[in-house]
Amino acid sequence: MIKIEAIVREEKMEDVKEALQKIQVRGLTVSQVMGCGTQMGYTEQVRGSKIHINMLPKIKFEIIVSTEEWERKTIDAICAAAHTGNVGDGKIFSYEIREAVRIRTGESGTDAIQPGEDPADD
Ligand SMILES: Nc1ncnc2c1ncn2[C@@H]1O[C@H](COP(=O)(O)OP(=O)(O)OP(=O)(O)O)[C@@H](O)[C@H]1O
Ligand SMILES: [Mg+2]
Repeated sequence: MIKIEAIVREEKMEDVKEALQKIQVRGLTVSQVMGCGTQMGYTEQVRGSKIHINMLPKIKFEIIVSTEEWERKTIDAICAAAHTGNVGDGKIFSYEIREAVRIRTGESGTDAIQPGEDPADD
């Protein structure tokens, strides 16, 4: 299993959500976060000026998928939906996940992240 963590612009949250819905991602977590990238929160830096870290509000998506094929599909969908071409578009990180458990049934591993028995469930 693979975890994809995507930090995107606040105003891109709906677009990213819809893109993930379109590829039928089954489950995601979204949070409001603060952060900065290589520009340390500034879009412009004057030579010789003091650099203070300036945190900007961003949206973080967390999605666990079962295969590398899904990883690629998910990353491509997020990239396409979150892209503007300007600095601060965001970052995507992915890493291996050791375990997942669906608490209701006790299912673990990839079984825990496949659609459950009740499709009306959240
Ligand atoms: N190395 C990092 N570690 C952790 N979080 C990061 C890192 N780089 C970026 N982020 C997160 O991603 C958000 C967006 O980063 P951003 O898009 O500005 O990255 P960047 O590398 O500066 O790219 P760009 O040059 O396009 O702005 C940051 O506000 C921060 O929350
Ligand atoms: Mg940046």
